[in-house]
Amino acid sequence: MTVGVLRERAAGERRVALTPDGVERLRKLGCGVLVESGAGTIAGFFDADYAASGAELVDADTVLTRSGVLVCVRAPGPAQRGRLTGGQALIGLLEPAADPELMNDLNAAGVTAISLDGLPRTLSSAQSMDALTSQANVAGYKAALVAANAYGGFFPMLMTAAGTVRPATVLVIGAGVAGLQAIGTARRLGAVVTGYDVRDAARSDIASTGAKFLELGRPVAAEHESASAAGGYARALTSREQADQQSAMVDALSRFDVVITTAQVPGRRPPVLVSTQAIAAMRPGSVVVDLAAGALGGNVEGSLPDQTVVSVNQVTIIGAGNLPSSVPTASSTAYSRNICALLGHLVEDGRLDLDLTDDITAGVLITRSEVAVHTGSPAPAENVSPPTSPAAPGELVTTGKGTPS
Ligand code: NAI
Repeated sequence: MTVGVLRERAAGERRVALTPDGVERLRKLGCGVLVESGAGTIAGFFDADYAASGAELVDADTVLTRSGVLVCVRAPGPAQRGRLTGGQALIGLLEPAADPELMNDLNAAGVTAISLDGLPRTLSSAQSMDALTSQANVAGYKAALVAANAYGGFFPMLMTAAGTVRPATVLVIGAGVAGLQAIGTARRLGAVVTGYDVRDAARSDIASTGAKFLELGRPVAAEHESASAAGGYARALTSREQADQQSAMVDALSRFDVVITTAQVPGRRPPVLVSTQAIAAMRPGSVVVDLAAGALGGNVEGSLPDQTVVSVNQVTIIGAGNLPSSVPTASSTAYSRNICALLGHLVEDGRLDLDLTDDITAGVLITRSEVAVHTGSPAPAENVSPPTSPAAPGELVTTGKGTPS
């Protein structure tokens, strides 16, 4: 099976899906690896390192036509994905919920789409493949640094001959993977940190970092009903709860120098937690970093993806939806390991073997090519279809009876 790696082409994207270490790991699985020349340079991984690891350095066209499995961080744009054909597989953080058109294109072309977004993250056997967690960890770490950099004061308390400087007060909203990492990093920088989340379980997670919990009280996440949903995620709040949460934040936020927001609800627009009114109540010179800022909106009213805006009352609002890209060596290293762990799970005898009865496979598989069905016994008729195009170098094998859409 040949695995291909292209240079990421999304605006501002600096990561690479596979590092030279990943090439070695895949070669041990029996895979050949094609890498587009220069694919890892901006992340600190050079062509010579890939070549030394056993990859073949080629141009983008060759990667697209000769790879059985293409690995990426973000989905390739229309020009490149339009070149993919039946029998090929695409693996990455494809965000199928955010981009139905991409999924339709891949489905129509007979491309097997495997998205790490769909991984069943609570399975312990899936943790080494959990790219959402590995990238959220990087994002949380960098969010604290971005905030410290933009803030006009110190994070730690400093006692100098010229006097004592009070530490910065930092609030982190959303205490999932990114939020807990932001709390830990801000505390290590010496700030006085408070955390907040709607999930009940987050209270003890925040306490375990040594940070305080922000009490917003009723009716935010109404007392009679938990705000937790399946898989450790938050449920979407009702519009009433959201309005109450926003108004409670107006008073609370004015006490903080720095606010970092990380709140997400899977498959939905990020909830707006910080309203224009709350920004207006903050002190001049305060900093807000919105990790949820993206095409679907963000947690902060007025934040713009990848942009910094300053409100009329001099609050700096940083839209920082893709911070992992700004720490490309660390985030690519972790991502590459996630990809290799997933391929280690999916590759059998040097081929992609998709067992649809397996929870991990069923979770990540979004669309599937029906190039070949391999079972010990005759496959059910509905799962079998003859190849519609010559098999790509990475022959696909599907087993089991799942029915991915
Ligand atoms: P996420 O990125 O979906 O959301 C970030 C945080 O925002 C969550 O903690 C969520 O509760 C919070 N949030 C959502 N709406 C909010 C609102 N209106 N107000 C305040 N906060 C709000 O979540 P992430 O970081 O991907 O993980 C969520 C949970 O899943 C965490 O408890 C995490 O520890 C758990 N998890 C467990 C894993 C495992 O068991 N191996 C693996 C990965 C995550």
